[in-house]
Amino acid sequence: MQPYPVDPGELREAMGRWPSGVTVVTTADPATGRPWGFTATSFTSLSMRPPLVLVCLDLGAECRPAFQRAAGFAVHILRSGQRGTAERFATRGADKFADGVGVRRGLYDVPLLDGAAATLECRLTERLPGGDHLILIGAVQRVTPGPDEPLLYHRRAFVELPAPALG
Ligand SMILES: Cc1cc2nc3c(=O)[nH]c(=O)nc-3n(C[C@H](O)[C@H](O)[C@H](O)COP(=O)(O)O)c2cc1C
Repeated sequence: MQPYPVDPGELREAMGRWPSGVTVVTTADPATGRPWGFTATSFTSLSMRPPLVLVCLDLGAECRPAFQRAAGFAVHILRSGQRGTAERFATRGADKFADGVGVRRGLYDVPLLDGAAATLECRLTERLPGGDHLILIGAVQRVTPGPDEPLLYHRRAFVELPAPALG
């Protein structure tokens, strides 16, 4: 007997029809300094005054304990051409910070990735329960813009969008 009114597969299929941007969210474990990160499409702008954003992290993610302890995190809004980065940070057990990725550290010692469409460095202000996910709320401390050519995710596939025409 299915315990919920909606079948998870049905919900997944419906959510696949909602195109979104793609982010990589990073942090550093304050106990060890070790960098952690995951690919996320659950990123949302929450408030402008004060500037707040949120992202939802699976309770079963290997990186969750680090986000549980961290003082801050960075959201990298990926650009077209960063599909490999998205795949790497979505792969459990992968050496996500190999080849010098994330060597540069920002606020709260958080590892920063190069070349994103935008980077939002945040203080981690709240962790709220959200079913099988943890809702991480961040107060944005610094924004770094990059090339305006976003990477999208639609129907469980990455889609690259060219820069918008000027004028
Ligand atoms: C396009 C895409 C979007 C994803 N969005 C999320 C998300 O919003 N939240 C989340 O917890 N996992 C999300 N995932 C899955 C995680 O990136 C993946 O399970 C990651 O490996 C989890 O971190 P871990 O390696 O520390 O376990 C997404 C994966 C993909 C491919």
